[in-house]
Amino acid sequence: MDFRTPTRVAITGAAGFLGRSLVQVLGEHFPLRLLDVVPIPGTWDSRVGDVSQLEDALSLCEGCSDLVIGHMAPNRPEIYGTPTLPFDVNVKGTANLFHAACTHGIKRVVLISSISVVQGHQNAGEFLTRDLSPDPRAMYPLTKVLQEQTAHYYHQAHGLEVAVLRPAYICDEDTVSDKYGRHLLTVNWQFIDPRDIAEATRLALIAPQLTYEIFYLLGHPDADAHAEMGRLREFLGWKAKHTFEKYPRDGEVPGT
Ligand SMILES: NC(=O)c1ccc[n+]([C@@H]2O[C@H](COP(=O)([O-])OP(=O)(O)OC[C@H]3O[C@@H](n4cnc5c(N)ncnc54)[C@H](O)[C@@H]3O)[C@@H](O)[C@H]2O)c1
Repeated sequence: MDFRTPTRVAITGAAGFLGRSLVQVLGEHFPLRLLDVVPIPGTWDSRVGDVSQLEDALSLCEGCSDLVIGHMAPNRPEIYGTPTLPFDVNVKGTANLFHAACTHGIKRVVLISSISVVQGHQNAGEFLTRDLSPDPRAMYPLTKVLQEQTAHYYHQAHGLEVAVLRPAYICDEDTVSDKYGRHLLTVNWQFIDPRDIAEATRLALIAPQLTYEIFYLLGHPDADAHAEMGRLREFLGWKAKHTFEKYPRDGEVPGT
């Protein structure tokens, strides 16, 4: 198979919980250019900037072949209590980045979305397929739906190739801790390690053919009973390396 070779990959949210793994994994394969509102440790080609400012998005994308959108407005109740910052950062920021990608001839974008775009279906216990209608039930999922719709618009109107990744609960398998440093004693089908998301991102960047694809991204083997996982394996050849199988499931008593 003839894989693509990205020549420079721009990443937003590079200082974040997932962003750090994206940088580590993708940095072993491609030249990177990183953006975050906070300084990014290390010797990377990085800049402090704000995706809600079009000029920052344009300057990030100039000279890049590919873009990975991995930023989000901080997940605190006072921030998602009004639309202002979530829409500025998640929605307008994403639209700015797609516009900048088109302006500078970027061909492929990986959007880190979220399983919460189909939250209503999930709450109803439905099996999650890629063709379900969006069903956000809170401000954060609403912004993720709007990110996906923006991505789809730029795909249809401007021909950008887009992979939408929908992780559920991002957690480090070694420490079973999440982005807030919370340590979990039990796991479930929604767990996914950030290194496995980074690997799926790498595979999406090098895949020979891509139009507009949506992938659920879940690491635990129980996920197959809840969401359409086959597409990720068949299309990208992805397989979770961090399956959380060594930990007890929710409802099982740890250590017994
Ligand atoms: N953590 C989870 O469990 C989870 C689950 C599903 C999807 N996601 C998605 O994964 C992605 C990464 O989330 P995370 O958990 O690593 O979050 P995070 O808060 O750890 O990282 C987000 C990064 O975005 C940066 N950022 C915020 N505002 C910005 C701006 N205006 N311009 C540029 N950068 C800005 C932050 O400084 C931060 O470093 C997001 O798209 C999120 O929606 C996360």
